[in-house]
Amino acid sequence: MGQWDRFLENYKQAVDELKVKFKGMRTQYEIENTNSPIEFVTGRVKPIASIYDKTLEKGIAFEPSANLSQELQDIAGLRIMCPFVDDIEKVVKLLRDRHDIIVVEERDYISHEKPSGYRSYHMIVEYPVQTIHGKVHILVEIQIRTLAMNFWASIEHSLNYKYKGIFPEEIKNRLQSASEAANRLDEEMSLIRTEIQEAQKYFSDYKEGGNVNFPSNS
Ligand code: GTP
Ligand code: MG
Repeated sequence: MGQWDRFLENYKQAVDELKVKFKGMRTQYEIENTNSPIEFVTGRVKPIASIYDKTLEKGIAFEPSANLSQELQDIAGLRIMCPFVDDIEKVVKLLRDRHDIIVVEERDYISHEKPSGYRSYHMIVEYPVQTIHGKVHILVEIQIRTLAMNFWASIEHSLNYKYKGIFPEEIKNRLQSASEAANRLDEEMSLIRTEIQEAQKYFSDYKEGGNVNFPSNS
């Protein structure tokens, strides 16, 4: 397992570093007292069992190799959740402009929703990790989506797991209509966006004011 450990360590490094960087973006908006297009960030390295499943599916060798790195573009995965649909584009622009990542590919599953009802904006980027043996370029998949899109995708993902990808017709229809409901929620929230953001600003000023004697930990 030593070889896998060494192979996956670079991915873990990339995920950890990018999580810090993307969370830092949110903090910078907070400090500037402007609404952040980033609500929260998660990241994971693909579990070895999922890597194995994927190699079977794709018919490639299950071994830590350059070929595997090239074929599986989501061994390192980051997710950026946005409050509003419009924020997704802002985040995409912010990422395109960064000098520490190179965008390799973009997939817009928002303009082009998947038949399942899945929506998200995907970016495959190259990220350099500094190792004790020099620089290694790691492919990272970044999924950018709203809170509503994330809610739907996580529910669908667990059902997918349960039904092993073969949904009963009833469930499939329910999921599609749930996806439409999530879209409507996003649209409704966009319409009252200014209201919401003013309220949030008011609330955060209030919190700050109430905590003047305490170091902020939020
Ligand atoms: P894999 O789906 O990982 O084999 O890669 P791909 O080359 O088909 O890329 P795609 O952009 O279709 O999917 C990449 C990732 O997006 C997946 O690993 C999931 O995390 C997510 N995703 C894509 N489609 C769906 C979907 O229908 N439902 C959910 N819940 N997630 C999806
Ligand atoms: Mg797929």
